[in-house]
Amino acid sequence: MTPETHTGLESPRGVWWKPAHKAEKVWVAIAFVWCMVLFAMMPLWHLKGGQNPSGIRRKVDPQAFYQRTQEFIAQYRIGEDRGMPIVAPPAGSDVYLTALAFQWTPILQLEKDKEYVLHLSSLDVNHGFSLYPMNVNFQVVPGYDYGLRVKPTEAGDFRIICNEFCGIGHHIMVGRVIVVDRTAETAETAVSAPSSAGGDR
Ligand code: CUA
Repeated sequence: MTPETHTGLESPRGVWWKPAHKAEKVWVAIAFVWCMVLFAMMPLWHLKGGQNPSGIRRKVDPQAFYQRTQEFIAQYRIGEDRGMPIVAPPAGSDVYLTALAFQWTPILQLEKDKEYVLHLSSLDVNHGFSLYPMNVNFQVVPGYDYGLRVKPTEAGDFRIICNEFCGIGHHIMVGRVIVVDRTAETAETAVSAPSSAGGDR
């Protein structure tokens, strides 16, 4: 008598399984319901949570985007910091920020509580936009214009840290976003108090 051989491709003969225990059925039901909850949460959180904003995405030629950034800089430039232009676009306008190894061009000066459309793209490789110390993170992909409707809610001098490894200078790739509070500035001028925040340097 030759012993029967089994491979994983065919099931053993007869009833080899035991019916699922009640507890197991309950767990399967709970797991299924939870899956449905999570499934519903995806669109719900997208609409209500404000975590993954519906950005404007367009294909773009990296060079053309960089060119657009340069035009944007020329139009609203107000100064510079160690050679990097500081650009103060008017509220409601389109703002362009190009990531390239290993810098963020330009430095943006925005107004608190004003809306902007922030266009992010890269000239070379993938970079990561991480606004420090806020918890704001976006992928910056060459060939794609990622437009985000943003409204700064806090005044301050923020840093953009690259959170996507992009090469030898990845760790020094730091940008800058300045958010000024115009209403507070007007109040300061009214009482002619010395500016402690340093104003809009
Ligand atoms: Cu850019 Cu890392």
